[in-house]
Amino acid sequence: LNYMKRINIVLLVLMVSASLFCANAKNRVDDLLKKMTLEEKIGQLNLNPGGDITTGPPLETEIGSMVAKGEIGAVLNVVGIGPVTKIQKVAVEKSRLGIPLIIGLDVIHGYKTTFPIPLALSCTWDLEGIERVARIAAEECSSCGINWTYSPMVDVAFDARWGRVAEGAGEDPYWGSLVAGAYVRGYQGTNPDDCRKDPSHILACVKHYALYSASEAGRDYNTVDMSHLRMYNQFFPPYKAAVKAGVASVMSSFNIVDGRHATANKWLLTDVLRDQWGFGGFVVTDYGSIDEMTNWGYGDIKANSARALKAGTDMDMCSDGFIENLADLVREGKVSEAEVDRACRRVLEAKEKLGLFDNPYRHIDPERAKKLGCAEYVKAARDIAAESFVLLKNQENVLPLKKEGKIALIGPLANAKTNMAGCWAVNYDPFTSVKEAFEKNLEGKATILYAQGCNALDDARYQEVTSAGNNIERVDSAKALNDAIDIARQADVIVCCLGELQEHSGESASRSNLELPSCQMTLLRQMNQLGKPVVLLNFSGRPTIMKWENENIPAIMNVWFSGSEGANAICDVVFGDKAPCGRLTTTMPDNMGQLPIYYQRLNTGRPMPADSKLPIRFRSCYIDGPNDPLFPFGYGLTYTTFSYGEPTATATANGYAATVSVTNTGNRDAWEVVQLYIHDVAASVARPVKELKGYKRIFLKAGETANVTIPFDKESLSFYDENGTLTFEPGEFEIMLGPNSRDLKTTSMTVE
Ligand code: BGC
Repeated sequence: LNYMKRINIVLLVLMVSASLFCANAKNRVDDLLKKMTLEEKIGQLNLNPGGDITTGPPLETEIGSMVAKGEIGAVLNVVGIGPVTKIQKVAVEKSRLGIPLIIGLDVIHGYKTTFPIPLALSCTWDLEGIERVARIAAEECSSCGINWTYSPMVDVAFDARWGRVAEGAGEDPYWGSLVAGAYVRGYQGTNPDDCRKDPSHILACVKHYALYSASEAGRDYNTVDMSHLRMYNQFFPPYKAAVKAGVASVMSSFNIVDGRHATANKWLLTDVLRDQWGFGGFVVTDYGSIDEMTNWGYGDIKANSARALKAGTDMDMCSDGFIENLADLVREGKVSEAEVDRACRRVLEAKEKLGLFDNPYRHIDPERAKKLGCAEYVKAARDIAAESFVLLKNQENVLPLKKEGKIALIGPLANAKTNMAGCWAVNYDPFTSVKEAFEKNLEGKATILYAQGCNALDDARYQEVTSAGNNIERVDSAKALNDAIDIARQADVIVCCLGELQEHSGESASRSNLELPSCQMTLLRQMNQLGKPVVLLNFSGRPTIMKWENENIPAIMNVWFSGSEGANAICDVVFGDKAPCGRLTTTMPDNMGQLPIYYQRLNTGRPMPADSKLPIRFRSCYIDGPNDPLFPFGYGLTYTTFSYGEPTATATANGYAATVSVTNTGNRDAWEVVQLYIHDVAASVARPVKELKGYKRIFLKAGETANVTIPFDKESLSFYDENGTLTFEPGEFEIMLGPNSRDLKTTSMTVE
């Protein structure tokens, strides 16, 4: 009893101090608000890029003088301890009220240590690993003054033509939700108070709210039109999960939702985000969104600034819409001061959350910055990069390669150091190329022969503008090909490094053809004719169409853009020190005509029979190609094989559970990702043929069998109606277990 009493007292003290802190914070924000002029409040809603602050004396720069006048509440893209200190000093010492700035940057997959792109990270199915990546990124950038990152991007992506597929967690709302939570915890911590207590935590910003990934035809910034049913069930869950994890800020998207711009959409920003999900932080626009509303056809920037604020936008990123118009709008009675106060309060509360009012320089710490790129972080980057690779084909166990003999390393990406950085790398040093990593890791064991073999792209100008300073040499095609053939002839095995250039994925990188460029295909075909085993390492930020490759090349592994340790990680996996364990979180299409393609589809009234190889008239199919993708969601091989028993599903004390026995039938220990899908057989709204609702990542020794149980609950069997109400309808559910979304074994259960 005494013990319980003591616990209760401790809890009470904790609760009282937490509520005292909240009250103090509230008082501080209230007091500040009372002292602020209308213009100063509006200044807090203005987010501008750092511009010339890095070079000029602060007060003589445009940004510095605006900060001094209290016209800016946060900056982005000011990088490095020197410039960050400089601008923060202006805010604290020169502005009337000395309100510190929030310092934002796109720290998306690392700061000094560059991790794989988010899509690759999501293929690890390693939530702890992903949280650790976000944690390290926060530790690194926060020591240099960055206290706000524009991450995680949680846009569910069905269409690989959209280049920003690279920045998210793939196509699945359930998995995307788990990943969203992991990032938020990694950046901000697990408790609401972590940012204030520990300066190595920073504010996260979930983006792009909402539906940005659904732009028509995969063309970036294009129109979106979608039913509320689909929004709530397939696109909203990861944003909602980020809110549940306590995300401090939300970035609205560039697109329209129901005909209204996401940045000025009250239903989205207030009714759903705040009223339904309980979001309490601040909303920032994407870069220049308010300004772009004029192009969309919503009139002038003044009217749009009013619309955005009223709808629930709190901070204007780089449109100058708020700073130039809100004061006039208040004077004209078109916007109330209370609406400005509401937004300003949210921004000040974020500053309070960061502890900036106690110490504006707490995120600038040269001592902590000594850890930038330290051995511990480098090891984490190497480990998780290796986990992200997805082995797509491995005929006759070509992989792993032996560390002996002569290995021909061929292709324009084999010696392209920074091409592995990915779309949001902040730092490009030090990076290692695959060639350098092979030479170093195999020194004294095997001979590495290298030839570029071809240009990265047929079009010289396109290659130049998309290679992000990689300087991949322009070569004479015929000569480069002949050299590669000569080199490869001398080798025992050929490893081809092909794929996308760094800027072929990411923002503003929509593509209408996802096959390898024709010059790379010519090289690959030639290599394949030499009668030696060929391994294709595909570098990409999105799915690649590899139909011919799958039919002809014995071993294919997707290595994405895997960051500063990517090349070393490739050595680890190619030479078998580690077994591949990535599983696709995005469907790899068979051909371009299938796009958009995703596993969570509806059945239609005229489905194709599962085993049908040929088109059937008046069925839902293509008459000139398959419905099925080349590699399904969840797919990935390793250096062993697994077999699955028959699944069972039962009710448990707190819900339900599905069980299946899994055996490692090969001769190597390895990770397997056991996946659970459900199908609601009959419902009042059409439900997908399968939906991921659980998974277990298990490590099985060669020959070992495990009984894997995956719990699920009634919510997993429910769906959202068009108003966002979670609805359960009793009846029959198919429960499917297996290694990917295609190769599943099914049982069924009736749930009342
Ligand atoms: C992108 C955002 C990014 C912002 C700030 C925009 O163009 O859409 O994802 O966070 O720029 O760099």
